[in-house]
Amino acid sequence: MTNDNSELAGLQQQAKTRQIIVEAITHQFAAEDEGLQRALQAARQAGLPEIQISPIQGKFLQLMAVACNAQKILEIGSLGGYSGIWLARALPTNGRFITLEINPKHAELVRNAFEQAGVSDRCTVRVGNALDLLPHLENEAPFDLIFIDADKPPYPQYLDWALRLSRPGSIIVADNCIRSGKGFEESQDEGMAGIVAYNKRIASDPRLISLDLAMDDDYTDGFAISVVRW
Ligand code: DHB
Ligand code: MG
Repeated sequence: MTNDNSELAGLQQQAKTRQIIVEAITHQFAAEDEGLQRALQAARQAGLPEIQISPIQGKFLQLMAVACNAQKILEIGSLGGYSGIWLARALPTNGRFITLEINPKHAELVRNAFEQAGVSDRCTVRVGNALDLLPHLENEAPFDLIFIDADKPPYPQYLDWALRLSRPGSIIVADNCIRSGKGFEESQDEGMAGIVAYNKRIASDPRLISLDLAMDDDYTDGFAISVVRW
């Protein structure tokens, strides 16, 4: 019993330490400004699920965008525009950010969020099923960074398109690829199966160098990051 109690206390202390670390990194490196906070507030008011990326993930997207000298960024799945604002801000003023959103009401919210955050000059929201919209982007390719954060079953198809619409040195990032470890187990669930297949593909495709990085939800979820090899 005493052993169990001290083990539990140790785990609780570790969880607390992880929380303190996340808060300190967020405070020092990834503080939200008014534009990001307004986007979150508007999304909440509209009843969108609160499943946007974390500030640390937002800053990490910016870091990767700058690392690949991104002039053109594509996002699949806009949600409330929160990740879009982080990404658009990593672009030069003449850069282009295109985000694909299936829900027209959400798309309107996203346009508003971009306006409020002062990035609408470089942003376009396209409305429709991403798999229908992606073939029309070939004449705007290559994109320097592609961020996938939409419905999970088609993740492998989104990867096919990301490869088609990228160049050597482009960075392809997908959210929610760890899922408490379920991202690496066989699954009957259609969404999880999509993620599992995505992970397998990026780990073995010779055109990519890839890594999953736990960085969200108390280090139980995170990005799959791939660079298209030169
Ligand atoms: C879900 C989707 C996401 O993109 C996410 O970051 C978290 C949860 C979901 O569909 O449940
Ligand atoms: Mg997500």
